[in-house]
Amino acid sequence: MQGSEGLELAAFLKDGEAEQIFQEMKPFRQLMMQYECALQEVETKLNVLNTEFSLEYDRNPFETIKTRIKRPLSIYNKMERLGEAITVENIESCLNDVAGIRVICSFPEDIYTIAELISKQDDINVLARKDYIKNPKENGYRSLHLILEIPIFLSNEKKYMKVEVQFRTIAMDFWASVEHKLKYKKNIKNPQEIAEQLKHCADTIADVDFRMQEIRHHIDKIAETCKLE
Ligand code: GTP
Ligand code: MG
Repeated sequence: MQGSEGLELAAFLKDGEAEQIFQEMKPFRQLMMQYECALQEVETKLNVLNTEFSLEYDRNPFETIKTRIKRPLSIYNKMERLGEAITVENIESCLNDVAGIRVICSFPEDIYTIAELISKQDDINVLARKDYIKNPKENGYRSLHLILEIPIFLSNEKKYMKVEVQFRTIAMDFWASVEHKLKYKKNIKNPQEIAEQLKHCADTIADVDFRMQEIRHHIDKIAETCKLE
């Protein structure tokens, strides 16, 4: 998928045949297969941590885990936005989020526990960490983002692949999903007012998250006292 092939590809994509064309290109399919393997590696690591934690503390730090590979058209659009030629090499070097995992936790503190445990595993490199929980985005968006690098073992090479992991609470995920949907609605008459309302909802949600966490601490303390009696 290089040189003139890239240009050909662009023409096809504009005709709306992105998925099919990408599927027919071996180097691209190989790259996507490698991202898929990296995704599975990170997902397994997270599941192992969840299982171990649940045995130790009798509860799961995360509720759900979702994985996705970026769609060909999204890859194409992002590369265009970046002004980069669409080659396998450029996709690998320019994009951090071809392989993505979203980990949905019940409580904010579990996000940090899991993120720290995976970050310090010795075959993982943390390339970037954005803490939008401690430092929410201006619109109220909250999540912890990690860009991890993990080796995959192919028949004739060991290759490091990038995987984006987003950690959120159920409440933060609810806000992000709805906000994302609303962004695509057209003919909004009062965007500033709507932005303020969304920000207010995000802040309220964050407050509820921490209050629920406090309730859990309280319950844990009561349970501990009962055990001692
Ligand atoms: P891209 O947005 O992927 O181009 O990357 P970036 O370099 O701006 O990274 P960032 O870590 O800020 O955001 C990456 C991803 O987080 C996005 O693709 C979304 O999935 C999610 N995200 C970031 N900001 C928002 C937001 O304001 N609302 C929602 N719903 N999701 C967001
Ligand atoms: Mg992205």
